[in-house]
Amino acid sequence: MKHILSTRDFDRRFIDKMIEQTDLIANNDGRVAKIANYGGFILASLFYEPSTRTRLSFESAAIKMGGNVISVEDAMKSSSATKGESIYDTVRIVGSYADLIVLRSPVVGIADEVAEFSSVPIINAGDGIRNHPTQALTDIYTLNKELGGIDGKHILVWGDMEYARTIHSIMSLLDHFETAKITTLDISQGEPSDDILSEVDAVYMTRPQTERNMKREGEFFTFTKAMLSHLKKDAIIMHPLPRTQELPDEILNDPRAVIFRQAKYGLYMRMALIREILSE
Ligand code: NCD
Repeated sequence: MKHILSTRDFDRRFIDKMIEQTDLIANNDGRVAKIANYGGFILASLFYEPSTRTRLSFESAAIKMGGNVISVEDAMKSSSATKGESIYDTVRIVGSYADLIVLRSPVVGIADEVAEFSSVPIINAGDGIRNHPTQALTDIYTLNKELGGIDGKHILVWGDMEYARTIHSIMSLLDHFETAKITTLDISQGEPSDDILSEVDAVYMTRPQTERNMKREGEFFTFTKAMLSHLKKDAIIMHPLPRTQELPDEILNDPRAVIFRQAKYGLYMRMALIREILSE
């Protein structure tokens, strides 16, 4: 049984395969992802933390593939967790109703723990500050697609280095691209220099994760028009979303900001991933 728990479990072969499969699906707008003899599978989304893109893209992916969806969108309040049920029991039960479970939780490592006794594949859709493997695959796909490859490229990762699981996850996948150059900049370190901006092929940003650490609250940073003027013509700006003040509309209107395409690629990547898991 194939669980998707952490980017640490992926090797370069798997990453390349997912890029290739996602490309096939993206180029056909999702039409090639129907799994032979697997129509009617049920995906359960179990979310103990808020989500828009991750949950809805997984659900949309399943429906586009001919599957169905059962969903608990605010499990902390609307599941039996309110009656004291443990997540272990909940996963056991949901696993007897569904063919795979997409799980998001504020608890670091919980996906690995429940996967040990789950009867169906578990997909980690974010576990606290630690990991968000499906966002990382989406981000790697986006870099590859928009830059025509990742090897040899220079990527600036600018944001909440400590608390953003998307950063931890993309960094661990970028380790597989040995010739890529990665520059990191935490919010607390100020703005990127003009020199760095004029050198990089991609800027990957995140918001301050204030819900995980209030100390991030006062840490204001923003991508300005002046910074934009230093970027190469064919550089790209990425962000997993949701954005706050760090990425204002005036930056988003620049064609180098590929943020909404990045979110759309997440749908195709999740279709590829569901197919990969269910065809095992
Ligand atoms: C991210 C997350 O949940 O970690 N959102 C997402 O899944 N696209 C990023 C964030 O919340 O800042």
